[in-house]
Amino acid sequence: MTTGKAITKAVIPAAGLGTRFLPATKAMPKEMLPVVDRPAIQYVVEEAIDAGLTDLLMITGRNKRSLEDHFDREPGLESALEKKGDKDRLAAIEHASELGPIHYVRQGEAKGLGHAVLCAKKHVGAEPFAVLLGDDLIDEAETLLSRMIEVQEKTGGSVIALIEVDPSQISAYGCADITSVEGEDYVRVHSLVEKPAVGEAPSNLAVIGRYVLNPSVFGVLEATEPGRGGEIQLTDALQTLAVGDGEGAGVYGVIFKGRRFDTGDKLSYLKAVITLASERVEFGEDLKTWLKDFVS
Ligand code: UTP
Repeated sequence: MTTGKAITKAVIPAAGLGTRFLPATKAMPKEMLPVVDRPAIQYVVEEAIDAGLTDLLMITGRNKRSLEDHFDREPGLESALEKKGDKDRLAAIEHASELGPIHYVRQGEAKGLGHAVLCAKKHVGAEPFAVLLGDDLIDEAETLLSRMIEVQEKTGGSVIALIEVDPSQISAYGCADITSVEGEDYVRVHSLVEKPAVGEAPSNLAVIGRYVLNPSVFGVLEATEPGRGGEIQLTDALQTLAVGDGEGAGVYGVIFKGRRFDTGDKLSYLKAVITLASERVEFGEDLKTWLKDFVS
């Protein structure tokens, strides 16, 4: 089954409270934490654009201003850099404002990821769309999102991204029970459970922050009661779609084997900064030399 229409819309939720990263996130969204020299959210926006998504909607919450400012022009700073003849830095800040246009919708209260996605209903309408979590970094060399879009177009359902984790870690994630699809590199998802207790998880396959969803998810989200943590969970709505057989039902998974960092988690954030910094031509080698010394 194909929908016949290319997917162009990306929803980027960035309205969470970021409690795991307090106090840094007291007055600033965690999506603005710098990873080397760009805020995490810029990597996510660039990934969406690289996958061919042209209509970006960010879900923002409290402290949203820095997010909007980052992707907007900053004439004062631009002319100061121009006067100094600092072309590289000027290009860097202009690049961030040329990634748009980005649309914004406010999630008045952080009622969960499912609720954040529901805030996109009016903008998205009746088309399949991608969701990229603003704190989840996927290596830019990877083509995960493009593959997920192809799978959505082929199946007509909803597509999630899965990684294999150590069984002891599964309770930090949504977890999927799957079977393989003959002749395909993607899997069928039969059920999903948000943050299962270790020992009760149906697999060691964890849901990460990329989704390509059938718009029927909106109707399901509207009927989804608050779940774990009193939040409206996207995982719960996807569970309904996974077991359903109505229009737009069916959930599939693409298993991702590349690099991914959760920048909302302090340790994973530090790993992201060090990994990406060590690959930078300007100072990567110096950093690695220093790290070797430091560790020894
Ligand atoms: P998290 O599960 O990381 O939750 O959200 P959180 O509240 O942001 O962070 P912690 O757990 O308190 O540290 C995953 C993604 O969903 C967004 C977040 O901004 C993040 O990109 N989100 C979450 C929303 O947009 N709204 C919500 O109500 C919850």
